[in-house]
Amino acid sequence: MTIPDERPAGSHMLSMFKEKLSMKAQYGEWALVAGGAQGIGEAYCEYLAQQGIPIIVLDNDEAALAACVRRLKAKYSVSVLPLHYDLSVIDDMALLMEKLGAYEIGLLVYNAATADVGAFYKPDGSLDFELQKLNLNVVNPLRFIYALAKPMLKRKRGGIILMSSGTGLVGSPYYAHYAATKSYLINLAEGLWYEFKPYGVDVLACIAGLTTTPKIKAAIARGEGMHGKYQTPEEVVSEAFQSLGKLPRVITGKHNRLQMFILGLLRRPVAIRAIARHAVKNFCQGEVPKQSIGTHEAD
Ligand SMILES: NC(=O)c1ccc[n+]([C@@H]2O[C@H](COP(=O)([O-])OP(=O)(O)OC[C@H]3O[C@@H](n4cnc5c(N)ncnc54)[C@H](OP(=O)(O)O)[C@@H]3O)[C@@H](O)[C@H]2O)c1
Repeated sequence: MTIPDERPAGSHMLSMFKEKLSMKAQYGEWALVAGGAQGIGEAYCEYLAQQGIPIIVLDNDEAALAACVRRLKAKYSVSVLPLHYDLSVIDDMALLMEKLGAYEIGLLVYNAATADVGAFYKPDGSLDFELQKLNLNVVNPLRFIYALAKPMLKRKRGGIILMSSGTGLVGSPYYAHYAATKSYLINLAEGLWYEFKPYGVDVLACIAGLTTTPKIKAAIARGEGMHGKYQTPEEVVSEAFQSLGKLPRVITGKHNRLQMFILGLLRRPVAIRAIARHAVKNFCQGEVPKQSIGTHEAD
């Protein structure tokens, strides 16, 4: 069986060489990495710093942000600006956009997200929490694109990467809302990939599978996610940049592409059940999470 490889053809070395030559010229002065202090976001920052692109690293974890900026500055002779901000709120977005307006941002990487596992109605859950997730995973990526893509289109150069997940490709029990937010990003990126292309702006949905970020490493240490196959953040980021400008989306990792290919062959109910089993086995200690609905909880 041949698995369709969604990555661009051509040698890895050649595309690395081309990227090195042209990334800054191709995309512009600054990169903004939202959720850039740790994990996949930090790997994006590292990659961009290697290319000599100045970076604005936005994150809500102040200590991690300071450490990331310190490390990048020590390692690369490139400007790195920390921007401490909580993207789960949307109140002072206009102010933030005004601040960012002072920079020519040629590359936007929207990486931050809230991911959680469990029943839709969790014992400690609330609609407010889900709405904050929506702000972080959906509303603010849209706001960032709305504000930052227009100048890119005017300049006729720019790049946008939206970090998504394999969960966004099929309904995902026990992370249903998270998966739905990731679906939104894939759809938006694919549409804009086509719309923005004539204006010289590349858009990509980067669809990752399990990746060894600090939170996932902590989950593994707790005994969760033991049955998964993982990529490193660096592997994910390298595949994203190989695909930017060539494809509307990339599913990173051969094993993830194989899994998604097989899921696509299954009848929808079967595929959704398979995802549910994976979540229960890997992240729910083998127990099917119950809906926390008060007195009438299911057995
Ligand atoms: N890790 C995986 O296995 C995996 C798999 C598929 C897709 N993805 C996708 O890849 C992206 C990155 O995943 P990750 O695991 O590296 O994420 P992460 O570690 O949870 O978050 C990355 C950075 O974003 C920050 N952040 C979180 N909430 C924020 C907020 N409200 N405002 C500003 N910054 C915030 C985090 O800080 P805090 O420490 O404060 O949270 C962290 O420094 C996400 O979009 C995720 O959906 C990840």
